[in-house]
Amino acid sequence: MKKTARAHTNIALVKYWGKKDQDLIIPMNSSLSLTLDHFYTDTTVEFSDRFSADTFTLNGQAKANDQVSAFLDLVRQKAGINTYAKVESINHVPTQAGLASSASAYAALALAASAASGLTLTKPELSRLARRGSGSACRSIYGGFVEWQMGHDDLTSYAKPFQEEVDWDICMLAIVLNAKQKKISSRGGMQTVVKTSPYYPAWVKTCQADIKAIKEAILAKDFVKLGTIAEENAMKMHALNLSASPHFNYFEPETLVAMQLVEELRQAGVACYYTLDAGPNVKVLCLKKDVTIIKQKLATVFEPDQLLLATPGPGAHLLA
Ligand code: PMV
Repeated sequence: MKKTARAHTNIALVKYWGKKDQDLIIPMNSSLSLTLDHFYTDTTVEFSDRFSADTFTLNGQAKANDQVSAFLDLVRQKAGINTYAKVESINHVPTQAGLASSASAYAALALAASAASGLTLTKPELSRLARRGSGSACRSIYGGFVEWQMGHDDLTSYAKPFQEEVDWDICMLAIVLNAKQKKISSRGGMQTVVKTSPYYPAWVKTCQADIKAIKEAILAKDFVKLGTIAEENAMKMHALNLSASPHFNYFEPETLVAMQLVEELRQAGVACYYTLDAGPNVKVLCLKKDVTIIKQKLATVFEPDQLLLATPGPGAHLLA
């Protein structure tokens, strides 16, 4: 009853921002992401009668395990077992770098825990399980471009692959500006926005159109269209935060510096676009052929070790 799984992070190009159901994590809008190769989590789960409590280590250090235990309860319930588990995770994602480590973490935990408990879940079932840990995790079950179809309840809300094999030189350059804990959790932030932003209905409505348009851009390999939609969608999400009561934002001064450098590159004819999540770090979408020139420009302000390059990556899989 011991299994190890690897899951990669994903970056949303059309974001999930707001829940219909807090407990089941049913979103207000569908979202679409790209799974990345460079950042991932390896998790080993062992269920055994020898254990007298659940334990959880992250990168070798013991961590509070309330959330992990609550997630394991879902697995135990499905599998009809009541044994405790030892969970060991190694995070190959800069921790709290705003690179959605919760997505790879809960996707890896869902796969390792369900397999270790003796369950054989279908991918939609696995995606639904991962969703209960962190919404974005349901998309990391698949590689490449993935759509989380919002659905309306636990059974109908899960991710589907849109294009698993990406034969396109699309890349993401993450600019790691600040590895500090985020000011406002995504959970808290999106809840405030749903309740108070006067623009929220417009967000939900335009996300539907953004999903449709970005799928067309992916199929046509139209990078300018894809980047434009992704950047505008990210800015709409951050505009919701600015229009909430109380208002909040995830920007640091360097966030705006990075955004401006990307805009200058674009003015100079280089196709590159930024996106941002619930943290200050900027992720630049670009094509492989432009990485060198983009890095040169960013290196006028940032250190080389702040720039991390990723390309499309695979879905969650068992290692042992
Ligand atoms: O899954 P959570 O609770 O970490 O929320 C993720 C929210 C964003 O990263 C901002 C957007 C997204 O769709 O991943």
